[in-house]
Amino acid sequence: MSRPKITVVGAGNVGATTAQRIADKGLADVVLVDIIEGLPQGKALDMREAGPVTGSDVSVVGSNSYAETAGSQIAVITSGIARRPGMSRDDLLFTNMDIVSKVTRELVSHSPNCILIVVTNPLDAMTQLAYWVSGFPRERVVGMAGILDTARFRTFLSLELNVSIRDIQAWVLGGHGDTMVPLLSSTTVGGQPVAKLIPKDRLAQIVKRTQDGGAEIVNLLKTGSAYYAPSAAVVEMVESILFDQKRLLPCCAYLQGEYGIHDLFVGVPVKLGARGVEQILQFELSAEEQQALHKSAASVKELSDKMKEKAGGVPK
Ligand code: APR
Repeated sequence: MSRPKITVVGAGNVGATTAQRIADKGLADVVLVDIIEGLPQGKALDMREAGPVTGSDVSVVGSNSYAETAGSQIAVITSGIARRPGMSRDDLLFTNMDIVSKVTRELVSHSPNCILIVVTNPLDAMTQLAYWVSGFPRERVVGMAGILDTARFRTFLSLELNVSIRDIQAWVLGGHGDTMVPLLSSTTVGGQPVAKLIPKDRLAQIVKRTQDGGAEIVNLLKTGSAYYAPSAAVVEMVESILFDQKRLLPCCAYLQGEYGIHDLFVGVPVKLGARGVEQILQFELSAEEQQALHKSAASVKELSDKMKEKAGGVPK
């Protein structure tokens, strides 16, 4: 039986770290693609040479074209430019729109049955774009954001309460931006609602730090954006799909009426399995959370409309 193949497009910080995590865990053969000559080849070879030490047998190949990617089960799109201090994720829209369109077309022509995981920012808009351009059913296009946002929220809660991150359950929904919606109603620590454990004002500060979590890293790094936590989040999605784990995870998925939102990619709880987004879970939200989710969706729609305007219709 041959091993599954995963393509990662973009051999920069997020892409290379994702490839490395997949290779270290021996999950699948990896093809790393980038436009810069030598970059994916060099990084792939370096990762492969780690195999004898880590004990991983998988193949890691780098390429500037897509022939090697043929028949991938999953393709992760990280290609694009990353934020620098002072930039919002939305500032990346038109540059990354062009890159993600081209990459999606190539991936789809070589791996028509793959599941696309989009990581490039602005995340929700780029996932929407990959959906339009790929022509795939909605199950097979999903964006990574909620797991990262949730991981940040859980990290800060764990620091605040001095308890293991393993005992903190949280959900962050909405768009991957300032309007993301941490669901306090379903955030628990050892099964106890978080609101009972942390005073309201302090909790509001932690929520704000979560919403600004990406910018906090960008301001520290100065030359790029986060990649350790983002790549870990991608790999959690990869494992759920590859092993049909049916994990319930916050991901960016196409809504067709769920949560009262139509024809838009927004972060919601989904069931992720071998078929991709197998189900969108309908959580009961408080009126405030529902309102925040709609506000978040409205800002995603704005970007989605800008892309349509630029392309003179739905981008293909
Ligand atoms: N095809 C393939 N690769 C491309 C293309 C393209 N058309 N255009 C750009 N790239 C590559 C770049 O050459 C670079 O190596 O994408 C890579 C991006 O890597 P980084 O600049 O290190 O950015 P990274 O931190 O990995 O972030 C990538 O993920 O989290 C998001 O906001 C982030 O949109 C950004 C993306």
